[in-house]
Amino acid sequence: MKSESKVTVLGAGLMGHGIAQVASTSGFEVSLLDVKQEFVDKGMAMVKNSLGKFVAKGRLDQAGADAVLKRIHPTTDLGRALAGAGLVIEAATENPELKLDLYRRISDLADPETVIASNTSSISITLLASATSSPEKVCGMHFFNPPQLMPLVEITRGNRTSDSTLDSVRAAAKRMGKETVTCLKDSPGFIVNRILVPALNEAVFLVQEGVATPEDVDKAVKLGLNWPMGPLQLLDYVGLDTTFNITQVFMQEFQDSKYRPSPLLREMVRAGKYGRKSGRGFYRWDSPDSTKSESK
Ligand code: 3HC
Repeated sequence: MKSESKVTVLGAGLMGHGIAQVASTSGFEVSLLDVKQEFVDKGMAMVKNSLGKFVAKGRLDQAGADAVLKRIHPTTDLGRALAGAGLVIEAATENPELKLDLYRRISDLADPETVIASNTSSISITLLASATSSPEKVCGMHFFNPPQLMPLVEITRGNRTSDSTLDSVRAAAKRMGKETVTCLKDSPGFIVNRILVPALNEAVFLVQEGVATPEDVDKAVKLGLNWPMGPLQLLDYVGLDTTFNITQVFMQEFQDSKYRPSPLLREMVRAGKYGRKSGRGFYRWDSPDSTKSESK
């Protein structure tokens, strides 16, 4: 039987581990799944590392951090992960084929009343829902990086999403201490990435054209617009590959060349310079979950 106090997070990567931590911190029992034990272990290590920062800051005591960790149940077994879950938050790799296959399997294994919310930043919610037998139970639930600190969740209505699904995801986000906005249509990039991705891409064009160095582009935007990170540091932080993939989706869905990715962005992705997750992008990074980049 499904329980409103159990959340299943699918994917223990940069977003999934943070979402699992946020859910557990707000009292949900959490199953955290990934396809290989080493990925689950890495996710749990990132949760521990993040909880350590909260303890060091005095925002959580050690007993509280231990309890958060204890409520997260790591697994590689999808059936076990889904058992009893009222809400499934899917934070798997941004690959449409992989996700569609996953949605088919969730639909086979989960209680038909279970709500499935995708953390996708670029794949159509309507498409994902089409792989399930209850498309009215599927919606978007997009967290921001790092989920532990960023207060927003974008909730997206797919073509067949029901009002009660949106209401229950809004309630879960609120219980997790998040503010929500609703994307009324299943539109590429939803609200935030529709604005952010062209801005990040434009920052890469500035470097490519030799208008300014990466450091000065970042300094200009930090001091001139009061962004906490400059656009190139943020690009490294969220991933050049992720951002490039979103430009591809924009190009395909909007059929508008204004979303054309900068050739430099394409080249860096081809070279494996994904930013923080690969240790190198516009800057050097010492670990995949750090917030501070080293110099170039
Ligand atoms: N868990 C717990 N604590 C963390 C943490 C984590 N994962 N990451 C950082 N912290 C803590 C640090 O320990 C630090 O604590 P302190 O103040 O006691 O020293 C505090 O947060 C601030 O961190 P830092 O000093 O290292 O760095 P910043 O002051 O720059 O803050 C930041 C970090 C909150 C990430 C800030 O730089 C920021 O807001 N950056 C912009 C992030 C952003 O725009 N995210 C959205 C990206 S778009 C997206 O995700 C959508 C996707 O689809 C592409």
